[in-house]
Amino acid sequence: MKRRAEITGWGKYVPEKVLTNNDLAKMVDTNDEWITSRTGIKERRIRTDTDTTTSMAVAAAREAMTVAEVDASEIDLIVVANSSPDYLLPAPANFVQHELGASCPALTVAAGCSGWVYALVTASQFIETGAYNNILVIGVELISYALDYTDRSTCILFGDAAAAVVLQPSTGDAGVMTFELGSDGGQAHHLWVPGGGTRNPVSQNVVDNREMYIRMNGQEVFKFATRKFTSCIKNIAEQAGMKPADLDLIIPHQANLRIIEYAAGLLGLSMDKFFVNLHKYGNTSAASIPLALVEAIQEGRVKPGDVTGMVAFGSGLSWAGAVVRMGEAVAKVAPQSVVAGVMQ
Ligand code: ACO
Repeated sequence: MKRRAEITGWGKYVPEKVLTNNDLAKMVDTNDEWITSRTGIKERRIRTDTDTTTSMAVAAAREAMTVAEVDASEIDLIVVANSSPDYLLPAPANFVQHELGASCPALTVAAGCSGWVYALVTASQFIETGAYNNILVIGVELISYALDYTDRSTCILFGDAAAAVVLQPSTGDAGVMTFELGSDGGQAHHLWVPGGGTRNPVSQNVVDNREMYIRMNGQEVFKFATRKFTSCIKNIAEQAGMKPADLDLIIPHQANLRIIEYAAGLLGLSMDKFFVNLHKYGNTSAASIPLALVEAIQEGRVKPGDVTGMVAFGSGLSWAGAVVRMGEAVAKVAPQSVVAGVMQ
C-alpha cells in the first residue's frame, strides 16, 4: 500500500479580541445587515498587543503536537503557510522553529489563502517519499496589519488566526489521497498589496496613497473563486475515483458564504456537505481551512474513514484542493483549544 500522509494532530489559536460588524460600523460606512447578507460574516478576531505571527503559529502548533503526542525534538520539518510575516526577512517558519525548540528545517509557503493547502500537499510529498515522518503544517495570518480600515470593501472581510496539523505516515489507507494546485498570475492585480515590495518600495508616496494595504477587485475574485471552487472539487474527487457528492464533508476556504452557496448550487450539493465557521472568524486567509478542519474534528463532524475535500482560492490568483481520508486519530478526545492563552 502507498505510504500516505495522515493527519494525526490538530490545534488552533485565535486572538481574544472580537471585532463585530457593529464595531466596524463605527469605523467605516457599513452596517451589520450589509456585511451579513453579502458575506455571512458576523464577527472576526483581531490580534491583541501580545499576538504576533510567530506566537499564534506556535500556540496552534503546540496544541497539534499534544494531540499527536509528538515532541518538538521529533519534528522533522515545519511548513508554515503565511502572507503576513513578523518581518520581511527571515521568513516566519524560522521563528516558529526556534520558538518551538525544534531543530529541523523550516519552510514558508506564501500563496495567500491557498497557502495552507499548498503547504499540506508539499509536506505530504516528504512523507510519501519516506524522507520525513513527523511534519508540522501550520496556517497563520495576522492579516489585520495589511487592512485599510478606511476601505469598507476589504476591512470587513478578514480576521487573524492560526491553526496547525501534524502529518505522519499512515498505517492504513488514511491520508492525502489526491490534490490539485494552480496559479493564474495574469490576474494578480485583482488581489494584492501594491506598495512596500521591490517594485514599489516603501516611500512617502506609498504611505500617502495607502498602497501598503490589501486592494481587491471583489467581483473579479468572486467570479474566479466560484469557477475554481467547482472545477477543483470535481477534479480532485474524480482523481480519487469519486464524485463530489461522495465526499463526506467539504471544507472550503472561508471567504464568503455566498461563494460557498453559489458553488454548492453549481455542484448540485446541499449546504450540509460543507463545513462553515466564517460567521465567527471572517476570512483568515492561510489559517482558514486548517481552522475549519480543527473545528470540524472538535465538533465531531469528521469520523475515522471519512473522506474530506478541501478547496482554497486566493491571491495569485491561486487555487488548491486536496482529498484527505481521515484516520483513527480523529476519534481521539483532544484537549480544548487555546484562545488567547485561556483554555476553553
Ligand atoms: N458596507 C456597505 N456597502 C458596501 C460595503 C460595505 N462594507 N462594501 C461595498 N459597499 C457598497 C459598494 O460601494 C457598492 O455601492 P454602489 O452600488 O453605491 O457603488 C455596493 O456596496 C455594491 O458593491 P459590490 O462590490 O458590487 O458588492 P458585492 O455584492 O460584489 O460584494 C464582496 C462585495 C463581498 C467583496 C464580494 O464581491 C466578494 O465577496 N468578493 C469575493 C471577495 C473574496 O472572497 N475575497 C477573498 C478571497 S481571496 C482571499 O481569501 C485572500
